[in-house]
Amino acid sequence: MAQNRVAIVTGAARGIGAGTAERLAADGFSVAVLDLEQGAQAGTVQRITGQGGRAVAVGVDVSDEASVANAMAQVVQELGAPSVLVNNAGITRDNLLFKMSAQDWDSVLAVHLRGAFLMSRAAQTHMVRARYGRIINLSSTSALGNRGQANYSAAKAGIQGFTKTLAIELGQFGVTVNAIAPGFIVTDMTRATANRMGVSFEEHQESAAAEIAVRRVGAPEDIANAVSFFADQRSGFVSGQVLYVAGGPRN
Ligand SMILES: NC(=O)c1ccc[n+]([C@@H]2O[C@H](COP(=O)([O-])OP(=O)(O)OC[C@H]3O[C@@H](n4cnc5c(N)ncnc54)[C@H](O)[C@@H]3O)[C@@H](O)[C@H]2O)c1
Repeated sequence: MAQNRVAIVTGAARGIGAGTAERLAADGFSVAVLDLEQGAQAGTVQRITGQGGRAVAVGVDVSDEASVANAMAQVVQELGAPSVLVNNAGITRDNLLFKMSAQDWDSVLAVHLRGAFLMSRAAQTHMVRARYGRIINLSSTSALGNRGQANYSAAKAGIQGFTKTLAIELGQFGVTVNAIAPGFIVTDMTRATANRMGVSFEEHQESAAAEIAVRRVGAPEDIANAVSFFADQRSGFVSGQVLYVAGGPRN
C-alpha cells in the first residue's frame, strides 16, 4: 500500500517526544515536530535535518481546538497528510488530593486527554481518507495508581480507554491505535519530580532503578523503539493494546 510517510509527534521539543521524532525520522518519516512554542523545537529539528532527515517545527497547544486545527493545516501544507500521530505532549501538576487545586486537575486532564482527543480527531480525517493510519498514545505506569498523581493517573488511565475505543472505531479504515505506558524515563519530567521530592536527580534514578527488574531506568530511546514498532506498516494486526515499557512486568 502506498502511504504518505508523514508522522506528527506532539511535545517533541525535548524528552520522549524528541527521541521519538528522531527515531521516526531515522525510520524514513518526514516528521512534524509539535510543541507549545515553535522556537523550542529547533534542537529536535536540527538533529533530524543534520542526519539527512526531514522535519518541520509547528507550534501548538494541544488542549486548544483552534490551535490544533491550525497546526494540522500547517502540517498538511508543509509535509502532506499524516499517516502517524504520536500523542506525547504532557505535563504534571502533582499533589496529594487534599492539596490539589481544581486548576491543577483541569490543566493535566486538558493536555493529556483533551489534547489526545483533539489531535486524534484532526488526524483521523486524513487517515480515514487514506484508509491507513497509526495512532500511538502515551499512557504511563501511573495509570495503575501513584501517590500524589490523582490527576495524572486519571488522565493516563483515561488514555487507555480512549485508545481501545479508537481502535474499535477506526480499525475498519486501516487505522491502528495503541498506547505505550512507560515506567521511569530520564527526562525533565522525572528531573522535576526529584526536585519536588528534595533529592538529587542521580539519587532519584538510583532508587528507582533498584525497584526495576532490569535494574536500570529508561531512556527516551526505549520508548521511541516501541513507538517505531507500532508505527510500522507491518504492525497492522496489533491494535487497541497497552504496552508497558518499564523494565519489568506491570499491571
Ligand atoms: N518521563 C517519564 O518517566 C514518563 C513516564 C510515563 C509517561 N510519560 C509521558 O510521556 C510523555 C512525554 O514525557 P516527557 O518525560 O518527555 O516530558 P517532558 O516534560 O520532558 O516533555 C513534555 C513536552 O510536552 C510539551 N507540552 C506540554 N504541554 C503542551 C501542550 N499543551 N501542547 C503542546 N506541547 C505541550 C512540553 O513543552 C514538553 O516539550 C508525557 O505524556 C508523559 O506523561 C513520561
